[in-house]
Amino acid sequence: MSGTINLIELREGGAHDLHSVNRIMQEAFDPRFGEAWTSAQCLGMLSLPGVWLVVASVDGQDAGFSLARAIAGEAELLLLATHPAARRRGVAGALLRAVIEEARGRGVARLHLEVRSGNDAVWLYRREGFEKVGERRDYYRGRSGQLFDAHTYARDLD
Ligand SMILES: CC(C)(COP(=O)(O)OP(=O)(O)OC[C@H]1O[C@@H](n2cnc3c(N)ncnc32)[C@H](O)[C@@H]1OP(=O)(O)O)[C@@H](O)C(=O)NCCC(=O)NCCS
Repeated sequence: MSGTINLIELREGGAHDLHSVNRIMQEAFDPRFGEAWTSAQCLGMLSLPGVWLVVASVDGQDAGFSLARAIAGEAELLLLATHPAARRRGVAGALLRAVIEEARGRGVARLHLEVRSGNDAVWLYRREGFEKVGERRDYYRGRSGQLFDAHTYARDLD
């Protein structure tokens, strides 16, 4: 509603949050593009060292999440999503800045991510200081088998 201020809260998530994460994932990612992960993929990733989940809630309801991994001084943003009902309220921006801060705290010098060519998320990444550093052809496979390129972005954290 116009003029409403929403309270965005962030918390570190765990395996117990995967039901909520999966609900947001299914609504957030358009199945045409093949970007969403399954719960099993998330669970497998979460069990690896250096991986952390952040869950965002808006007015007490889970509305977004990020999944990231830090290895040997570098980090990768693996997933970032906001439920469609909670978009353009700063949820993904807050999550991304939290990932950046956590990565800095883990001694990470550079943060990388991959995003489908044409994804609106690029506006957010550019705004937060990421620059395009490469392309990966046919990286995503959509529901009907169509392939989509990924663009690789990165930013220094110092
Ligand atoms: C991309 C996504 C995460 C953005 O989430 P969000 O919570 O709406 O983002 P924010 O409200 O924090 O937006 C921050 C800024 O990003 C930019 N932005 C976000 N969505 C945009 C869109 N659809 N078009 C243009 N710019 C956009 C704007 O600059 C925005 O700031 P503003 O609202 O003040 O103009 C969300 O649309 C989403 O979940 N998409 C599907 C999943 C996905 O593709 N994730 C990224 C790849 S893993």
